[in-house]
Amino acid sequence: MEFRDLIDRRQSVRNYSDEEVEGGKVEEILEAARTAPSAGNLKAYDIEVVREEDKKEELSLAARGQDHVREASVDLVFFQDRERSGRKYGDRGRDLYSLQDATIAAAYAQLAATDLGIANCWVGAFDEEGVSEITGNQLRPVAVITLGYSD
Ligand SMILES: Cc1cc2nc3c(=O)[nH]c(=O)nc-3n(C[C@H](O)[C@H](O)[C@H](O)COP(=O)(O)O)c2cc1C
Repeated sequence: MEFRDLIDRRQSVRNYSDEEVEGGKVEEILEAARTAPSAGNLKAYDIEVVREEDKKEELSLAARGQDHVREASVDLVFFQDRERSGRKYGDRGRDLYSLQDATIAAAYAQLAATDLGIANCWVGAFDEEGVSEITGNQLRPVAVITLGYSD
């Protein structure tokens, strides 16, 4: 897809069909996220892939009951790894670069999903402690990207 078409086509989609997003496509999206620029190329973030129905349900509750978090085929949770960047860059790495690394990667994931014909939405309204508990990842969750085929 031409770049201009891609950015025009990306829009938040919150209604998904029951069709599963294929594992290979999720891998392609993760691979695209990993190509995003990051401070010192440290990639100071983690990504958790959530496909299990019970976990998506819990995530939806942690995200103020947003239905599309539960109805998505996959939720990608992006975490800021403050210490990975902080070890090299001190407070600027802890507070800023790691957050930027994680969110740029999330934006790349959105564009890659759109390119593959997979509808998506950025979700930022959630209880951080709840999301860490559900995913078992103690880093700070900063964004959830929902993925599914548009209904
Ligand atoms: C930081 C951030 C947080 C957001 N949080 C939510 C959210 O919690 N729930 C939601 O449905 N959309 C959320 N969005 C999506 C925005 O509502 C959406 O991008 C905006 O309205 C523009 O629409 P578009 O994406 O279709 O261009 C968020 C977007 C960003 C960048």
